[in-house]
Parts: sequence; C-alpha cells; structure tokens
Amino acid sequence: MNIKKIISLKTRQAMSIFNIPKFYKPIVHPSKDKFLIKYQINGILNCSKNLNTYSLNLSIKIANKINLYNISKKIIVYNPGFINIYFNNKWLSEQLLLKLSLPKLGIKKKKSINIIIDYSSPNVAKEMHVGHLRSTIIGDSIFKILKFLGYKVFKANHIGDWGQQFGSLLAYYFKNKKKIKKIDLKNLEKFYKKSNKNYKTNKNFSKYSDYCLLQLYNGKKKYIKIWKKFVSITINYNQKIYKKLNVSLCKDDIFGESFYHNYLSKIVIDLKKKNIAEIINGNTVIKLKEFNNRNGNIMGIIIKKKNGIFLYSTIDIACIKYRFEKLKAKEIIYYVDNRQKQHLKQVFNIVHKANYIDKKVKLKHHHFGMILNNNGKPFKTREGNNIKLNYLIEKSIKKSKNMILKKNINIKKDKLDFLSSILGVGAIKYSDLSKNRTTNYVFNWNKILSFEGNTSFYIQYAYTRIFSIFKNTNFNYNYLSSKKIILKNKNESNIAIKILQFEENIIEASKLGMPHIICRYLYDLASLFSFFYSKYPILYSKNNIKKINNLQLLLLIAKTLKIGLNMIGIDTVTFM
Ligand code: ARG
Repeated sequence: MNIKKIISLKTRQAMSIFNIPKFYKPIVHPSKDKFLIKYQINGILNCSKNLNTYSLNLSIKIANKINLYNISKKIIVYNPGFINIYFNNKWLSEQLLLKLSLPKLGIKKKKSINIIIDYSSPNVAKEMHVGHLRSTIIGDSIFKILKFLGYKVFKANHIGDWGQQFGSLLAYYFKNKKKIKKIDLKNLEKFYKKSNKNYKTNKNFSKYSDYCLLQLYNGKKKYIKIWKKFVSITINYNQKIYKKLNVSLCKDDIFGESFYHNYLSKIVIDLKKKNIAEIINGNTVIKLKEFNNRNGNIMGIIIKKKNGIFLYSTIDIACIKYRFEKLKAKEIIYYVDNRQKQHLKQVFNIVHKANYIDKKVKLKHHHFGMILNNNGKPFKTREGNNIKLNYLIEKSIKKSKNMILKKNINIKKDKLDFLSSILGVGAIKYSDLSKNRTTNYVFNWNKILSFEGNTSFYIQYAYTRIFSIFKNTNFNYNYLSSKKIILKNKNESNIAIKILQFEENIIEASKLGMPHIICRYLYDLASLFSFFYSKYPILYSKNNIKKINNLQLLLLIAKTLKIGLNMIGIDTVTFM
C-alpha cells in the first residue's frame, strides 16, 4: 500500500475529468510538519497558470472530484490552490491490521525484471580501504531493497584482476622469486607499489612486464598459475571483510575484469567494422565528438594499444554487452565514485552507438562523494595513506565495546563481543548510508557512536526497548494481529501514517539508489516511538483495550524497524 501512489492516481483521474492534459502530474507529498497528519497535492498551480484559469477555483473543482472516499476524512483546499488530504482513522486502522497479518508487512512484489548491480569492485593485490566503503555498502543496501521488492537482482563484483599492473606484478615476482618467502596480501601490496615504480622508471623492467602480460593474456600456464594465486589471496581476504561488514557479496558474485578477456578482440574488430573505431598511430581509438579533452579537441578513447593490450574501457564495453545478451539485463546500476563519471558516460555512449544493447535498457551511474576528515580533507592516515577498511571496522568495534562496558561493567564476554560487533559495524555503515550519496561527508567518531541524533544506536535502541516491553507482557503475536486497531488520538494516527509510509520510502530509495531515504524514515519512526512511549508508558496502563492497541502499534514499529535496518544491512539486537 503506497499512499503517495493512490493519491496521485486518484488526483490525476480527477484532473482528467476537466480534460487537463496528461503531462500535468500532481505532486504529492506528506506534510513536512511532523505532527500534522495530512498529505499535500501541488502542481495544480502550475497547470492553472498554463491553462489560464484561476488556480484556487481549479483546485477546488479537482478536489471535489478526487475519489478517496474511505481513505480521507476531509479534503481542504488552501489558497492559492494547495489541496490537503486528511486521513480517515478507520481506513488507517484497517490498513495497519492488514500489515500485521501479512508477510513482509504486505508490501507488494513488483514485476520481476533483471537488474544488475555493479558494486564494491576492489582491485586485486591491494587491501580494501576506506575508499571502497561507499560502493560496497550502498550497492549492497540497494541490492537488498530491490530484492525485497521482488526484482530479480544480480550482484556483480567487477574486481580489478586484469590489466597492465599484472604484467608488472608477475615481472616483479619472477625477478625476485628466490627472495620471496611468503605471499600474503600485505606483501602483495608492497610488490604492487614497487613493481609500479619500476615500470615507470626502468625500461628493461617495463619491457619484461609487457612480455609477462602477454604471456598471461595468451593463457601460458606458468603465468596463469601465479596470477590466480594473487587473485585468490585477495578474494579470500575481501570475503572476510564482507562478512564482517554484513555485506551479502560472495565468491559467486565475482565477475572480474579478466572474465571478459575472450570477448575483447572481437569487440575491437566489430567497432572498427562499424566505423566507430579507427587506427591512429598504431592504437585503436574511438573518437567521441560528444566529449572534449583539455585542449578543447574531440576526445579519443584508446581501446587497444599498439602493443596489443586492451584497456579498462574496452572491458567495460564488453561487460555491458555480456550483461545484456547473456544475463538479459534490463537495467544496470553502477555504484562507482564521482571520479569515474566521464569514463562511464563514454562507455555508455559507445555501447549505444554500437547497438550493443537495446535502447530501453537503463544504464545508471549512481555516483558518490568522498569521505573526509574533520579538516575537510580526504580521510587518510596521518602519513597520508589510505585507511584500511579492516582497521576502521575493528576500531569501531573496540570503541563500541568501551561504550557498552561503561554502561554495564558486568556484561559477559560472549555477549559483549556479540553486541559490540553488531553495534560497531552498524555505526560505521549507518553514518555513511544516512548521508546523501552524491555529496562528500565528514567522518566523526563522536557523532557516529552516539545514542542521540540520527544514528544507528538510536534506532537499534528503539527496537530493543520495544522488544523488552514485549518480554514483559503476555500478549502473543497471533492474538495481537487478530484484534481490531482503534486509533484514538493524534499521536496514534501519526504513528499509523508513518508506518504506512514505509512502502513509498522504500520505492523512492530504490528508484534513486539512495539508502539515506530509508535511514531518515527509520530515524523519524524511532523518534515517534520514543515520544509516544514517554507519553504513554504502555506497560503501566490499566485499560486493557488501550494496552492491546498500543502494543499493536509497537509491534508494527518494531517490525518496520527490523525490516528497514536489514535493508541497510544492519542487525537488530534484543538487549543493549
Ligand atoms: N575496480 C575499479 C576501481 O577500483 C572499479 C570498478 C567499477 N566497475 C566497473 N564496471 N568499471 O576503481
């Protein structure tokens, strides 16, 4: 049940009675005031201007024809033409009861279309760092939301396991084989840095690197074997991070850059045949007139170097073609940072020109900003290095542990470990997911690990409190979901509407790829609960009917909080 959608639909129907053209759409939104239980319809003003009618009159005429009989108790038009819908409590309670008895709170399944989410995608031979946090957790949250809504969603972890750096890594490895005692991710990262430097400064080394790369691309066993080792060491490590972060990516979701290698030659040939690519100075290049380089000239994208090596863009072109042809993707969403905006735009442009996908397929780049420190600079170590994700997670768990111990010195060790890991991980994730992804944000431990304000602790705590209220009552779930819900005052109606707004918030978050919409919703719901519970301490109520009623509302709040937190990959706890 999506309140926004119903009101929009009925308003549009009313507009049609007056022959208002279809492209005038009503703009429906809940009242901004927390305690005013109404929805407002805008957009009539705009259309009355264009139709040369007096807006108040037109709005009144339309309002009279909006068929929301059992939903609204009154519809009032305010000057200069805002239509306000006030809800009927009986309808609200029926909807709530329905939610109580249906699985997934009665939120309907959508048509199943294939959506691919490209996210996390770290590079091989490096430890995941803070820079990978946003893609990983925003992508995973959107995966969970779309899955909940019934879409067929594929996760694609497009890891960087191919390209020139593997030539250098292999060259470094074979040159230093005798000295290398052990390969783990820490060492790999060192090799990566050294080999990169050597490639740039030492001609012999770079020649040998290119040779190793070609051996790898030609599938020579000796090279493939070591490369596979590099990849598996990285993947095994990353899987541990995903597990700690409560991120659903598993090994089966890995479709790294190397996966597309066998398609690349054919694509280059095809792009040449279609006159999209041409040879310039021995390189195969696509000139894109839609893009200019720094000098204001048409930009040329190299898709194959003269030494036979393919590039990052070539792989992304092949990858889209594969996802469309083989995985039947109707939509591909990329969670990749702002800096790759141009790269993806170009790739999208090329696949359209080459007709590699149907025009209807949606290609979306859901870009995001950076994480900054208190000084507004990129969030790095004092020495200017990237902060490892594992370090950040462990630090948050440790800080949470100290906070719990301050409140409860006697907590048992296993409980402490369990709780601190859920709270610590949740705090980092929530602080990120609650920000609009398109902007940078400042990482601040004090704000993140707090029981006050828009934080994970605040929401998790609301859930825990409701859980403990239920522990102290003897009403069971079946009984509560069979009893009629009666809303007697403004606060209760307010909670009712908030609960019913869950669906429209999920839909909005899923459309825009913005989990912060869910976070904001959960925070508002948790705040309403705290306010309500401070006013009506349910457990002490002598009036049984009232008690049952309030417990029903609390049960719905708890269910909504739990589902919502799961959507953003955060666990609930039953004690704190
Ligand atoms: N591995 C890349 C990086 O770390 C991100 C890959 C994003 N996905 C893609 N299909 N290009 O920058």
